[in-house]
Amino acid sequence: MTPIATASAPGKVILFGEHAVVYGRPALAVPVTQVRATVTIAPATRPGIFIEAPQVHLSARLDALSQHDPLAAAIYGFFSVLDSPPSLSEEGLEIRIASTIPVASGLGSGAAVTIALLRALSACFSHPLSDEQVNALAYEVEKLHHGTPSGIDNTVITYEQAVYFVRGRPMEMLRVGHPFLILIGDSGVRAPTRETVAEVRRGWEADGGKWESLFDQIGNIALAARRSIEGGEWQALGELMNRNHALLQEMHVSSPELDRLVEAARAAGALGAKLSGGGRGGNMIALVHPESTPQVARALEQAGARSVIQTRVE
Ligand code: PMV
Repeated sequence: MTPIATASAPGKVILFGEHAVVYGRPALAVPVTQVRATVTIAPATRPGIFIEAPQVHLSARLDALSQHDPLAAAIYGFFSVLDSPPSLSEEGLEIRIASTIPVASGLGSGAAVTIALLRALSACFSHPLSDEQVNALAYEVEKLHHGTPSGIDNTVITYEQAVYFVRGRPMEMLRVGHPFLILIGDSGVRAPTRETVAEVRRGWEADGGKWESLFDQIGNIALAARRSIEGGEWQALGELMNRNHALLQEMHVSSPELDRLVEAARAAGALGAKLSGGGRGGNMIALVHPESTPQVARALEQAGARSVIQTRVE
């Protein structure tokens, strides 16, 4: 069937500041364009709006999904900005979702699908959306995925730019002085972000002083990392990654699998390494020199990485 509209959105990784960002500290994140979510909308042969997402074994009519289903929520969110929303039973549309972004791995697959979906709908209904609108609608859907998200995922994916992010503030671009390479190693374990975020909250509620101090230290690392990235100081940046990882370990959001990958990357010559995202699973990142990239990638695979993605931050 000939598509009416198609749109895609990249993955992302958090370089610095995960978890502390939920508590107002700055974080840095970059798009990962090697992996993408793609949404295609085509006319359906029968009335109704049908969603086909074979990778997550979903094939459903929109009106059969709960309003709290993130895909349904994104579609209803889009309809809410239309002057005259379509009739769910008369419109004949098939929305097809495909993604090369691993699910629940800290690469922002949920936000990327939402954003690609919003943009495909915007093209299909000839209703342009500004980046700010896409970002705000996607943030509402992120709440269904994560509970109390900071908004960093939807922001970096909407703008497809390296960002310096502070919750509740307008997006600030991260100026990358000189491009650099990172390797992203997948632990192969599902990252339970909703739970880790909730557990961090329980820790903070029980001992605010201790956790505020951890968040402050992470926030300061993110600030210093921003300066290192602007100035191209890779040795210092690697050190900051290592320190950020140690604080995440102290917050109990790392895991033996992630620690093993982080240590393997460092031993093979990475300038620094840390977990990325919610933790307990999902991905880690390593800062690498171009010459040491193959040996670090090999070491990650030997240490159990399910996949290794190389991305250039610029
Ligand atoms: O697991 P991810 O990459 O979706 O990231 C979660 C990042 C947290 O800081 C832990 C939560 C958030 O909403 O920022």
